[in-house]
Amino acid sequence: MRIGILTSGGDAPGLNAVIRGAVLKGDKMYNQEFVGFRSGWRGVIEEELLPLGRHEVRGISKQGGTILGTSRTNPFEGNGGPDRIREVLERNDIESIIAIGGEGTLAAARRLSDAGLPIVGVPKTIDNDISATDYTFGFDTAVQIATDAMDRLRTTGDAHGRCMIAEVMGRHVGWIALHSGMAAGAHAILIPEQKTSMDQIIEWVTSASDRGRAPLVVVSEGFLLDTMDDTHHERGLDAFGRPRLGGIGEMLAPMIEERTGIETRATTLGHIQRGGTPTSYDRVLATRLGMSVLELARTKQWGKMVALRGTDIITVPFEDALGQLKTVPQHRYDEARVLFG
Ligand code: F6P
Repeated sequence: MRIGILTSGGDAPGLNAVIRGAVLKGDKMYNQEFVGFRSGWRGVIEEELLPLGRHEVRGISKQGGTILGTSRTNPFEGNGGPDRIREVLERNDIESIIAIGGEGTLAAARRLSDAGLPIVGVPKTIDNDISATDYTFGFDTAVQIATDAMDRLRTTGDAHGRCMIAEVMGRHVGWIALHSGMAAGAHAILIPEQKTSMDQIIEWVTSASDRGRAPLVVVSEGFLLDTMDDTHHERGLDAFGRPRLGGIGEMLAPMIEERTGIETRATTLGHIQRGGTPTSYDRVLATRLGMSVLELARTKQWGKMVALRGTDIITVPFEDALGQLKTVPQHRYDEARVLFG
């Protein structure tokens, strides 16, 4: 019987290394056959299968994206759900599915496995916000890209004596901002977990500028000023309650400029953070997760996923990863905050 692999949700650098780890180990040690589903759950529902053997995974760990393609298709939203998936698996001689995905994917995987389907999982997100795993692959790459970008923003900021704002990804959590901001020596790090006043931001910016530094501010896309309510981003409004054109970085720039008199520019890094070559850390983590999830599938541990705990790959039930996002704890923010201004 074959094992099917799918990648679902937003891509993350390292997806291909997971696929390669599982396929190579399966092929070498167990003569296991695999098949890929094109574009996540959509490929299962629409029965779009791709060949997936040693040949297909050769040299792909260093490639960003995913050779299988991805989508945000939810198998429960008008797509036939468990019955349709069971039918596709049986018809194609597929014993189980390895689902590589974020919260949404894992939630769907859990519901499917509760319905009796043979599913195991690998957690994935550049945001690093999945509970039950210390780090997700893709995060290190995103942080590296954001840090490189900030190092560049610094030199142009210094040249002009400008305040530079870097908006990074992170809808609900500030891990990318925290790590890249610390690495780049930002003068303020603004994250969704910590609503902050404009007065405080101005104080940090002014303090850096008074010491002759061109202020560097890093902000997560989901950050809120203390005057903004929690539904602000969903409503897509700017600080004045008008439909927002840019992100939070674009919104803060004129406010900082007006209050400090320092010319301010905002850069949104966007999907650049998800593209290109994964770091070696992410390749190693992803490869190990791929090799481990293969063992889960072979030993029929349905309803479980692999995770990183310390330096070990462990096994946890899907439900441990769901329900609550892994946010930046207060002590981690306080630790970074000492360096602001
Ligand atoms: O969850 C990963 C992530 O990259 C977030 O940081 C970001 O908010 C979102 O996906 C972007 O999604 P999309 O690629 O659908 O625009």
